[in-house]
Amino acid sequence: MKALILSGGKGTRLRPLTYTGAKQLVPVANKPILWYGIESIVAAGITDIGIIISPETGEEIQEVTGNGDRFGANITYIPQDHPLGLAHAVKIAQPFLGDAPFIMYLGDNLIQDDLKPFLSKFESQDLDGLILLRSVSNPSAFGVAKVDQNGRVLQLVEKPKVPPSNLALVGVYFFNTVIHHAIASIVPSERGELEITDAIQALIDQQKKVESVQLNGWWLDTGKKDDLLEANRIILDTDLETKKGGEIDSKSQIIGRVNIGEGSKIVNSTVRGPVIIGENCHIENCFIGPYTSVGNKVTLIDADIEHSVLLEGAQILEIHQRIVDSLIGRRAKLEMAHQRPKALQFMIGDDTHIELV
Ligand code: DAU
Repeated sequence: MKALILSGGKGTRLRPLTYTGAKQLVPVANKPILWYGIESIVAAGITDIGIIISPETGEEIQEVTGNGDRFGANITYIPQDHPLGLAHAVKIAQPFLGDAPFIMYLGDNLIQDDLKPFLSKFESQDLDGLILLRSVSNPSAFGVAKVDQNGRVLQLVEKPKVPPSNLALVGVYFFNTVIHHAIASIVPSERGELEITDAIQALIDQQKKVESVQLNGWWLDTGKKDDLLEANRIILDTDLETKKGGEIDSKSQIIGRVNIGEGSKIVNSTVRGPVIIGENCHIENCFIGPYTSVGNKVTLIDADIEHSVLLEGAQILEIHQRIVDSLIGRRAKLEMAHQRPKALQFMIGDDTHIELV
């Protein structure tokens, strides 16, 4: 069994962050989204992992993720020149996949469930394909499945205007080699992509054994800001270990589960967990409230912030209003100026979204 993680694509939904970085590397609780997928694949006993990368962000993904040693895995990077679809990614990965059955995992998805039970079902029932489903309130934003009462898949459609059910395809799939023939038989969809949903539909049409399981735990498709904040909240709630690295002065209060990285200084501040603070941060006269992840080398002075994600090197200086539900990019700087006349002054990147209340 091998694994193929799809980490190419364009990442338009998390712009502007994804102008300068891969969406799969945006951190949740200070760990790149992609790494959660790798860890759960390795936990299921699969260590031969191929990762699809794009020309725009591939280098960064390789640099950050490495050859797999840190996960106890062996990673092969597979460049995809253009994001021509999920099935196209499988097509170009054929030399890596060979005759092995495989898990296909979308690098921007996060699921809570352990993969092992799905893998055993796939293997023990000798299935041609196994898909994971989750009921959602907005099925039109996903691939949607119609299944019979035994979980056998009857029909799949990609982002249908009129969904046949509320069961969305989660970005984790199990296939044996017949998927390659199915992919060879499909043509690009209206949006110009080779769709994996069409390939799975082809398997169904050929009476192959394609089954589904519904997820019990949470699933996050981290394509948008609110999804990312939600993923961050859940991971901080469930997985955060307490750690007090760095220096915390006597005027500071650390309440609840808080993880502070080495080299960080907390001065005259209150941190109320769950909160993770990376390495080499400077936090002074601040309140950091629940569900906040602060990346490495962040500076916060006279700031109140909660339920937010701050990326590496961000600075917030003397903002006297509470910042909530925010995603702040790498090296972004937010500061109070003292000159008159009082006015708002911005230098804002393309596609940035700012709400002043
Ligand atoms: O998240 C679940 C959904 O993922 C499913 O419900 C849909 O059926 C499935 O098509 C997919 O839809 P998305 O529109 O969310 O896919 P997206 O374009 O965001 O790509 C998913 C991942 O695959 C992402 O990490 C980028 C990567 N990718 C995408 C394409 C199109 C590639 O590596 N190569 C590609 O050509």
